Amino acid sequence: MINFKERSNQKEFLDDFQGDSHELAAVLNDINRVNRILGGNRITANAVFRLIEERPKDSYTILDMGCGEGEMLRALAILARKKNISLKLTGIDLNSDALKIAKQASLEFPELTFLEKDVLSADFSDYNCDIVITTLTMHHFQDSDILNFAQQFTRLASIGVVINDLQRNALAYYLFKVFSLIFIKTKVAKQDGLTSIRRGFRKSELIALSSSLSDIHHEISWKWAFRYVWIMRK
Ligand SMILES: C[S@@+](CC[C@H](N)C(=O)[O-])C[C@H]1O[C@@H](n2cnc3c(N)ncnc32)[C@H](O)[C@@H]1O
Repeated sequence: MINFKERSNQKEFLDDFQGDSHELAAVLNDINRVNRILGGNRITANAVFRLIEERPKDSYTILDMGCGEGEMLRALAILARKKNISLKLTGIDLNSDALKIAKQASLEFPELTFLEKDVLSADFSDYNCDIVITTLTMHHFQDSDILNFAQQFTRLASIGVVINDLQRNALAYYLFKVFSLIFIKTKVAKQDGLTSIRRGFRKSELIALSSSLSDIHHEISWKWAFRYVWIMRK
């Protein structure tokens, strides 16, 4: 029996990926397909544009921590163009191969830049931005790192932070197994998807973390399919 009571410590293949850049592109493509079909990116985008509407200004800077191959940033750029909102978007990731794919896929997006950094150890004291986002990245971290990670983001962002990550439960796990038979091609994405759910969160755990971040207004909501969006407003 799989234990869903506690977060798993099992590493994902993507955390120490041994394949070449073609194999990595196929895995990232699978993750993008899941996000598109299950609406994962829309959850972050809706939260970002809510923050923007609440705090009108001429333009906004957004940092995406653990951006992978940058699909989330391109989705935000396309929506912002439609809404006539000026955005400057920076994607940060420690995986240089993912960033190469991101840069190649973003040639039509001059508003995007990418930086190679480990978000847990990088010094962001010289940076500032309006909004920090992070989608499907927090579950890669140990409990002990998550508070540092969230504190660093709240210092960095002048408007707020949007975290979009997975709910950990048995139903999500077994439905993903069925879903992956049809929609996921690579073994790594299938296996990592299941590990990710076991590394995901319960709402009570997010609420406990939020109580350590004072002077911030927290909104934590469940979204289909088995996601939590945690919006922090300064
Ligand atoms: C599951 S992918 C999510 C990518 C993208 N945000 C999305 O929603 O499709 C997690 C990403 O986090 C990155 N990542 C994991 N740990 C990181 C760290 N310590 N610093 C920077 N990036 C990290 C991985 O390289 C990977 O690209």
